[in-house]
Amino acid sequence: MGRVMLRMKGIDKSFPGVHALDHVDLEVEAGEVHALMGENGAGKSTLMKILTGIYSKDSGTIEFEGQEVNFTTPAKAQEAGIAIVHQELNMMNHLTVAQNLFIGREIMKSGFISDSMMNKEAKKLFGRLNIEIDPSEVMGNLTVGRQQMCEIAKAISRDARLIVFDEPSAALTETEIEELFKIIRDLRSKGMGIIYISHRMDEIKVITDRVTVMRDGTYVGTLTTKDCTKDDIINMMVGRVIYEEPKQAGSVKGDAPVVLKVEHLSAGKMVKDVSFELRKGEILGFSGLMGAGRTETARAIFGADRKDGGRDLHQWQKSRDKDNRGCGQSGNRISVRGPEALWTCGV
Ligand SMILES: Nc1ncnc2c1ncn2[C@@H]1O[C@H](COP(=O)(O)OP(=O)(O)O)[C@@H](O)[C@H]1O
Ligand SMILES: [Mg+2]
Repeated sequence: MGRVMLRMKGIDKSFPGVHALDHVDLEVEAGEVHALMGENGAGKSTLMKILTGIYSKDSGTIEFEGQEVNFTTPAKAQEAGIAIVHQELNMMNHLTVAQNLFIGREIMKSGFISDSMMNKEAKKLFGRLNIEIDPSEVMGNLTVGRQQMCEIAKAISRDARLIVFDEPSAALTETEIEELFKIIRDLRSKGMGIIYISHRMDEIKVITDRVTVMRDGTYVGTLTTKDCTKDDIINMMVGRVIYEEPKQAGSVKGDAPVVLKVEHLSAGKMVKDVSFELRKGEILGFSGLMGAGRTETARAIFGADRKDGGRDLHQWQKSRDKDNRGCGQSGNRISVRGPEALWTCGV
């Protein structure tokens, strides 16, 4: 870490009926990955859209590399060296990777666009970033993760020194996230500033140096990642002790038969030792903050995230009401090799 590269002070923004940002501060140093955290609607994206010229601020100041700036368009932010990689990507799917990289500044030879020269330049750029993508591939054929890498390469080729990632990992697989992190670490080591927005607490601990927390459009505080726990961050995000309602008796009888029993389910990095029972006639809710592993648990039950060539990821126990037709007997243990295995058992 080093000098302060970006200083946003007292940023205020209202939309009709919503005070989205209330005098928010943010400081990012060169050579750091800075997490921006907060619950949905806290104002993270709005702050970043103001920084990158997508929205205009009502008041406050932005200083970038020692100069006060106020970008009125994304192009102006980009010219100054600030890029944003959105969750929804802005690539032209029918063009090649290289054509996308050089869109609007195509490399010409004798008055014509030269694909071979653009491919060559793209290859050099990918080489520097350790990205293995064929520049002549059609963009639409790449996975979301690879398209995102092209976005990063594009930003670097336009001399970005500060890159904002707004929830980049939401649509990525674990392998793609690893690849993304490798690139981010590399950029950091080259002295770039990175702002990283994510709900996934595990990622924040792994990839970021500092964390700024926002709540309801206000700045809550900034922590050094290695000195804080996940709970510290969550407490700042939520800002209250969560009130637990007195338990109400459900309408499902205690002796209703168990139709699904999951024991010690673990899968990937997100799902660790999950156990629960679902009874006949019961609607079972799963709650937790974003990134708590709810979706991943559901996917694991269905064997949707098979890895390692389809080996068993986990096992679960299923027992069924005797009156029900279907496979297996009460307490059958099923090894899940994919969604098909469950369909045949009535799940
Ligand atoms: N273009 C817009 N028009 C009106 N309200 C908006 C607009 N963009 C964001 N908001 C509101 O501003 C608040 C902050 O939103 P946002 O910055 O997207 O939060 P976050 O990215 O932290 O989830 C929310 O209440 C949201 O509904
Ligand atoms: Mg957002």
